[in-house]
Amino acid sequence: MSTTAQIGVTGLAVMGRNLARNFARNGYTVALHNRTASRTHDLVAEFGEEGIFVPTEAAKDFVAALERPRRLVIMVKAGEPTDAVIQEFAPLLEPGDMIIDGGNAHFADTRRRERELREQGIHFVGTGISGGEEGALHGPSIMPGGSAESYESLGPMLEKISAKAKDGAPCVTHVGPDGAGHFVKMVHNGIEYADMQLIGEAYQLLRDVAGYSPGQIAEIFRTWNTGRLDSYLIEITAQVLSHVDAASGEPFVDVVVDQAEQKGTGRWTVQIALDLGVPVSGIAEAVFARSLSGHAALRAASRDLAGPKAAPLSESEAAAFADRVEQALYASKIVSYTQGFHEIAAGSEEYGWDIDLGAIAAIWRDGCIIRAAFLDRIRAAYDTRPDLPSLLSDETFAREIAAAQDDWREVLVAATRQGVPAPGFAAALAYYDALRAERLPAALTQAQRDFFGAHTYRRVDREGTFHTLWGGDRSEVEA
Ligand SMILES: NC(=O)c1ccc[n+]([C@@H]2O[C@H](COP(=O)([O-])OP(=O)(O)OC[C@H]3O[C@@H](n4cnc5c(N)ncnc54)[C@H](OP(=O)(O)O)[C@@H]3O)[C@@H](O)[C@H]2O)c1
Repeated sequence: MSTTAQIGVTGLAVMGRNLARNFARNGYTVALHNRTASRTHDLVAEFGEEGIFVPTEAAKDFVAALERPRRLVIMVKAGEPTDAVIQEFAPLLEPGDMIIDGGNAHFADTRRRERELREQGIHFVGTGISGGEEGALHGPSIMPGGSAESYESLGPMLEKISAKAKDGAPCVTHVGPDGAGHFVKMVHNGIEYADMQLIGEAYQLLRDVAGYSPGQIAEIFRTWNTGRLDSYLIEITAQVLSHVDAASGEPFVDVVVDQAEQKGTGRWTVQIALDLGVPVSGIAEAVFARSLSGHAALRAASRDLAGPKAAPLSESEAAAFADRVEQALYASKIVSYTQGFHEIAAGSEEYGWDIDLGAIAAIWRDGCIIRAAFLDRIRAAYDTRPDLPSLLSDETFAREIAAAQDDWREVLVAATRQGVPAPGFAAALAYYDALRAERLPAALTQAQRDFFGAHTYRRVDREGTFHTLWGGDRSEVEA
């Protein structure tokens, strides 16, 4: 076997196969491997013309086909399969070689794997990849972690196969050491959950409050996609809503069961945010909304609960309402990204990753599921002020929210009055109002805690920690 391949991919299901083709189409010689050898041979049979592939069956042949230092990409089912594949290949590798895990791994697993492999001198590069199977083939957004040294060797290759933003910049950057890449991919997916939930709420309000049909709502989304909401998710929403089911002749959205899945990265984003103490309420509401939708029996048992049944709005009222929903959606979206970037900043601080938030916004501008014109502006906000405490502190976003807030509130009033759930819009507005509040009821919470558990409190007017003798004469003592 000649040692010619610049990169190898093991795990040739939809993602691995398309990633391998992407490398080959960009001129790299790609070694191929899969547990079940037929996938390897199928790829070569179907797409062998696209570039130079080196198909292998045995692990040792796969490793032998790679030039040194070896670059070995794992694209298998995340979790135990990733560990199984590492155990199979690591003993065959040498110091300086790189294992790139492109699966959706939990960043804590990535940190563990990186630590273990570092002892053998192997670079483990946990890499977030977003864009689904189309992205893997034509250019995904890529979020590699791992050592800076590994990025020197890998970076140029990843830049070549990645999506390119409108200004030509590749949608890849060295996110930070060990698990930083998978952490950022996790938050990307959390934001994706929130984006989808907010779009879903906008759709339902336009349908149930304004009285529009799915086809009419598709047109509204199409218009929105020419403005500041311009994004992949808005674009596909218009396409989905205008699709008519061939079998029934009904709008496609009406024949799909309304129970969504919530697993993996969206849930992890919320779990980790709880550990880090970061309020990602918009993402959490999105995860909970999916989980509520899946409780079919509970929903069936609750269907007769009392609630308003409102008449649809008049044509002119509906058009005005649609404009308001656009404002509410945009403002809520700013809040979701504010929360997501806060979580990245907190993770970066906790694990010492030194993540450049502007660079993250830049690599999400194309290739990934949340790609949007809006991300250019987030990047600009962090470029102008890298120490921005929150996106809401950026003058432009603050001004836009100020302009949107009346409509945002009105939309929530209408939703509440007419009994249409809008937990994402509501959570976003509550977050915004909580941040701007002069005083929060946390003062009362602290007083209660001191009452029942002597948990103590601090005062606004002098330094120190205090406890009130609630069971006695209610005098205050220094704790
Ligand atoms: N699908 C997406 O849109 C998307 C987007 C971003 C990231 N990802 C991530 O990319 C990775 C690959 O995704 P996918 O959808 O292409 O494939 P997948 O369905 O998650 O996994 C199938 C692949 O894993 C291999 N595999 C499973 N268990 C194994 C084991 N114990 N040992 C060795 N190989 C094993 C399979 O080999 P056999 O052929 O032998 O069964 C097959 O190649 C996953 O981690 C996924 O989360 C997916």
